Amino acid sequence: MYVPPNVVTNDDLTKVMDTTDEWIQERTGIKERRYATRFEETTATMGVEAAKIALERAGTTANEIDFIIFATISPDYYFPGCGVLAQRLLGIKDIGALDVRNQCSGFIYALSVADQFIKSGMYKNILLIAAETHSYGLDFSTRGRNVSVIFGDGAGAVVLQPTEEEHRGVLSTHLHSDGTAAEILSMVNPGFHAGKFVAEKRPKEPGQPYGGLFITEELLEKDDIYPYMDGPAVFKMAVVKFPEVIMEALNKNNLQTSDLRLLIPHQANLRISQFVQQKLKLKDEQVYNNIQKYGNTTAASIPIALCEAWEEGKIKEGDLVCLAAFGSGFTWGSALLRW
Ligand code: ACO
Repeated sequence: MYVPPNVVTNDDLTKVMDTTDEWIQERTGIKERRYATRFEETTATMGVEAAKIALERAGTTANEIDFIIFATISPDYYFPGCGVLAQRLLGIKDIGALDVRNQCSGFIYALSVADQFIKSGMYKNILLIAAETHSYGLDFSTRGRNVSVIFGDGAGAVVLQPTEEEHRGVLSTHLHSDGTAAEILSMVNPGFHAGKFVAEKRPKEPGQPYGGLFITEELLEKDDIYPYMDGPAVFKMAVVKFPEVIMEALNKNNLQTSDLRLLIPHQANLRISQFVQQKLKLKDEQVYNNIQKYGNTTAASIPIALCEAWEEGKIKEGDLVCLAAFGSGFTWGSALLRW
């Protein structure tokens, strides 16, 4: 994992918007988060910092990597994706690089893709990176406070390799989505939607036959370029889908919650994780939370938490670990690992 050194506390945020440490901690559990060093760090550079550590710990080198998967919703460029930027920064040539943009469940989706490539024998050393730089693009006025206090920057990475040992590694992955309420947690602008799905997002006719529907003056005038979240609606769905998809993974492998050494949920909100823990009757030591220190780092939150849990000795060889995520889309998923 790599998180930028710049710590931003809840009290720091009270200097730019109308919020309080008490409100943020009570609703989300977050005490502080990290923000990227402006003009220095990006999603790609932070991802590569995490990747270098993952490569070292896997006892492999960048040259041995045969495929890159990069999960992010805050890419450096609209295109090309962060996968090729990471490839360039790591000095690797010609191998495939895939970008995954499944928001909070991006790491689980990317892991599932990597797992299929490994199991089919197509690749032997896959570098999976997940990173986010939310702080460059959030609405730090009081208007955007329900979203901006939640998100933080950071990166995590893993190297995936095949094993001959049966019942080890990624046991199964489970992916789901439901786009019926796609805009409930979204950042639609700038985008190429031309207001097709949401009437109030329809831009004015630009008075020219072609173009002019992507970034418009109106968008900038209205300052309508930030993430939107209906927090209560997200909460309600999350506390149903998290337990569902965790149980799906356990049932598929004929295992029970008591077999779990550790559940690492996407760090969406401490209250969501506590709700899930309660519903599944998991002990405190069976659920890992570090949102208090980093906020919600979207795709990066699971590999950051996985890394910290492992460094703290909470995951040992042979342990059963469940990763689970829910987020924008909605998309959700889980992965069951025998470490
Ligand atoms: N500081 C102070 N007051 C705030 C802030 C803030 N940062 N943000 C919102 N408020 C105010 C609102 O303006 C509102 O005031 P009002 O009652 O005078 O209108 C009041 O607090 C309650 O607002 P709600 O949005 O209804 O707040 P809620 O109690 O639902 O808490 C929260 C908001 C924390 C986002 C909650 O809905 C939640 O946990 N939702 C789950 C969504 C989530 O965790 N998303 C994470 C990202 S998505 C993901 O990773 C899955």
